[in-house]
Amino acid sequence: MNPEIAFEDVAYIRNLVRVRSAMVLEPEKTYLLKSRLEPFAKQEGFGSMADLVSQLRQTSYGPLHKRVVEAMTINETSFFRDLVPFQALKDRLLPEVIQANWDIKRLHIWCGASSSGQEPYSILLTILHHFPELTSWHIRLIATDLSQEMIKRGQEGRYGPFEVNRGLSPPMLNTYFSRQGMEWQIRDDVRNMIEFREMNLAGSWLVLPTMDLVFIRNVMMYFDMETRKDILRRIRGILAPHGYLILGATETTLAVDDHFERVPVNGTSVYRVRKD
Ligand SMILES: C[S@@+](CC[C@H](N)C(=O)[O-])C[C@H]1O[C@@H](n2cnc3c(N)ncnc32)[C@H](O)[C@@H]1O
Repeated sequence: MNPEIAFEDVAYIRNLVRVRSAMVLEPEKTYLLKSRLEPFAKQEGFGSMADLVSQLRQTSYGPLHKRVVEAMTINETSFFRDLVPFQALKDRLLPEVIQANWDIKRLHIWCGASSSGQEPYSILLTILHHFPELTSWHIRLIATDLSQEMIKRGQEGRYGPFEVNRGLSPPMLNTYFSRQGMEWQIRDDVRNMIEFREMNLAGSWLVLPTMDLVFIRNVMMYFDMETRKDILRRIRGILAPHGYLILGATETTLAVDDHFERVPVNGTSVYRVRKD
């Protein structure tokens, strides 16, 4: 396959990805674009990246366009990624939410870029492992992602040895997973506690209930300022007054949305809506 791609074709793909996912593929990341598009074109049976782009241009937005956008997304994730947010969840965020919701015994959590599921499962395992009393509560844990393929992987809850070795402790692995050949399958009762749904953060949202905790980690960094502002505004609309927003380690609401305030916890930062 010809490894070259015309400037206009790169521009077309960048625009497609931006319009459909809000992700900004910087021109200096053209190598990344090519390294993903080339195998994708081959896998889809095209003779070259140019043939693929030509087909995309000739037809209105459809499944092929969607698959291209998904092929361009960065799905990097792991169980208990960065660890400290999950320590904060255990030591401060969940205890506070439990106190606030004690009378109604209800917990709503949304994980807004859940990739292949390791993040929502890490949230759920923190609850099950450290707060067993919450199993009698009404818990809704909603995991959404742009990518249909990632949502399917999360729903399946099956992970390879490399994936479970990244972040899962042996007691958690042995308690909540069973071995199936080379892979590890999360228990059905745990898997069924998460609602996995497709959703574009930059598009129209599903109807979401008031949330106690919102995790939108390691995705805002790919969006432009206007998109970040719009997403944070909409999060404010669904976050409970005692609720927290948890972002990725390199992400912040500062200089994006002044209605949020930063709360330092366990060496990391979480965010809540200012009361004043
Ligand atoms: C780098 S992963 C982060 C996964 C996880 N939150 C973590 O921190 O480990 C980014 C995820 O965001 C998703 N994504 C990208 N653009 C999105 C959008 N517009 N709406 C929803 N999800 C999006 C990608 O499909 C990918 O699964």
